[in-house]
Amino acid sequence: MDLRSDAVVLFGVTGDLVAKKLFPALYELTRRGRLDMPVIGVARSRWDHQQLITAARKSVLEANGRVDDEVFDALTRRLTMLSGDYADPATYQRLAEALAAARRPLFYLAIPPAVFTAVVDGLAASGLAGRGRVVVEKPFGRDLASSRELNRALRTAFDPERIFRIDHYLGKESVEGLRVFRFANRIFEPLWNAEHIDNVQITLAEGFGTEGRAGFYDRMGATRDVLQNHMLQVVALLAMEPPATAGDDAYRAEEVRALRQVEPLSPESTVRGQYAGYRLEPGVAADSNTETFVATSLRIDSPRWAGVPFHLRTGKLMPGTATEVVVEFRTPERDLVPATGGDAPRPNLLRFRLGRNDGITLSIQVKEPGAEVTGRTVELPVDFGSALGHRREAYERLLDDALDGRHLRFAREEAIEQEWRIVEPILDLPEPVASYPRGSWGPAAAETLAGHWHTPILR
Ligand code: BG6
Repeated sequence: MDLRSDAVVLFGVTGDLVAKKLFPALYELTRRGRLDMPVIGVARSRWDHQQLITAARKSVLEANGRVDDEVFDALTRRLTMLSGDYADPATYQRLAEALAAARRPLFYLAIPPAVFTAVVDGLAASGLAGRGRVVVEKPFGRDLASSRELNRALRTAFDPERIFRIDHYLGKESVEGLRVFRFANRIFEPLWNAEHIDNVQITLAEGFGTEGRAGFYDRMGATRDVLQNHMLQVVALLAMEPPATAGDDAYRAEEVRALRQVEPLSPESTVRGQYAGYRLEPGVAADSNTETFVATSLRIDSPRWAGVPFHLRTGKLMPGTATEVVVEFRTPERDLVPATGGDAPRPNLLRFRLGRNDGITLSIQVKEPGAEVTGRTVELPVDFGSALGHRREAYERLLDDALDGRHLRFAREEAIEQEWRIVEPILDLPEPVASYPRGSWGPAAAETLAGHWHTPILR
């Protein structure tokens, strides 16, 4: 393994991502003794050191509910602030001076797309890129062409093995756990195909709105924000073939192969929605046609998945928050046991909860007590929190990986390009989005898209 980085530079330190995810991750790394290096925050805003510390404390408090002063003080001793214009060479000169002692800095680009190239160019021209690693956040382009453009710019500045593309879903224990579930259990893989699975549903629901970042969100929409990346990554992990060997490379290559087999999404099987009142939010265009909800069905062109729809839906201001996969099996070939009450036979469902309350639930049929022999559904739930104890947050794991130069949990360039290819036909559709009431499951048309959506367990 390569040597660990010896400094972290956070571009966009005053932004939303650093506040929500990166300060808490740095704090946890400090607690574990994994952050023995300077951390330099860079931003255009003129923040002083005290403002930086105050923002960091607020983030940790919001994420954890408490701040351990000893850990936090250790973190603040590492933190410094550097304000400057991203297009100004002087900013990179000052950064180079601050990094004089660092031989392998890690540059984390938590910045909007508009300044992405300026920062990459600045790092290249100052010579800093030559000795550093870079972590890039989404949005990684707006479509296939612009994502390729960004990749070209990145590759002129950094060697490919020093580029880390974050899709934080790949850093979630529960998402990584899909690999173990599928390939370490004998009992499910033989059923993991069109012969036994009727459909797969993936819901990424959020009970909150744009949370103060409407200006940014309005240029993205749900398709670019989470469908193109997080949700399609989950599709790939569910749909992929077993890799030929146990290594990580073989695994990631299979994931890309699965994405290649996904057919482009079609506007006809897509429903886009916007929650009521969205256009009145500060930063949102009065006539915005940006979707805060999207539901779509995709097909995978492979023998394993012939005819099996994968239904995907995601939205802001849904009835609650949950990321769930439901694998709906076919009902038994012969209808030997009726469901209680004379209903149609109920399918087995395998439910993966991938969000905060993660776990797995298998629903099975048991005999309804009484004289009749009929089936009733009961659930076999596993709650990972109680079964497995504390698991580290995705950003903490990913930051630690990038510092060590470990690529396993980062998205491959080719996977990202495939994801853009898949969503391209539903980007920027001219038809007006349908309005939906806050706290609902989106526009009525989405309700029937999957035939029947299984309601996630909300928190
Ligand atoms: C981010 C999106 O990538 O993922 C957010 O930009 C979204 O809009 C978030 O809320 C969801 O991530 P998680 O880990 O909370 O499910």
